[in-house]
Amino acid sequence: MDDLKQRILSEGKIVSHQVLNLDSILNHQVDPKLIQQLGREFATRFKDQGVTKVLTIESSGISIAYATALELEIPLIFARRKKPLMSDDYYCERVPSFTKGIVTDIVVSSEFIQSEDRILIIDDIIANGDALKGLINIIQNSGAHLAGAGIVVEKAFQTGAKDIREQDIRVESLVKIISLENGEIGLE
Ligand code: G4P
Ligand code: NA
Ligand code: NA
Repeated sequence: MDDLKQRILSEGKIVSHQVLNLDSILNHQVDPKLIQQLGREFATRFKDQGVTKVLTIESSGISIAYATALELEIPLIFARRKKPLMSDDYYCERVPSFTKGIVTDIVVSSEFIQSEDRILIIDDIIANGDALKGLINIIQNSGAHLAGAGIVVEKAFQTGAKDIREQDIRVESLVKIISLENGEIGLE
């Protein structure tokens, strides 16, 4: 994951001690070749888990989840932030957002998750993990099996990933940011 680390170090913009802007590689523009590498890495890490579907949340998780699902040759589901009009049978979780300071509903139509499914969650960044916890609750409510979560960037100075690992859920991150202090991006 040296390419990814280099891109984060050269293009990441420190917004505060807590927030790193990664718009040029993950959150506004994406480089398909880099995203493809990330998807292949997650597919390799979870290839023995019998995963049947990849689940992410709109919007920035989608490209990475797509690359992972393409490699595993399985469908991708992206949770919506509004209730879909097409269905009145859905799982809904209310999640707070640390960066935006708001609460949103994340929604997945129940027709896309069956109890026999084995689901891999993919997302771009984990901070407090609220979005991920919402997706985990949706999977648990559906009765499907959670194979684990693959996250591109773990902000290890926040507790989201740690909290989730403490529930015996496998969380694989590709890069850990340990600090954004002193104007430097500190990677593990
Ligand atoms: P959490 O999901 O881990 O609890 O984090 P939080 O609620 O803070 O996440 C809210 C949004 O902010 C998420 O994107 C998350 O990826 C993003 N985020 C959190 N910390 C950082 C950071 O340091 N840098 C950047 N660039 N993003 C961060 P989202 O709401 O799902 O939006 P979208 O990007 O998918 O549209
Ligand atoms: Na994001
Ligand atoms: Na995301």
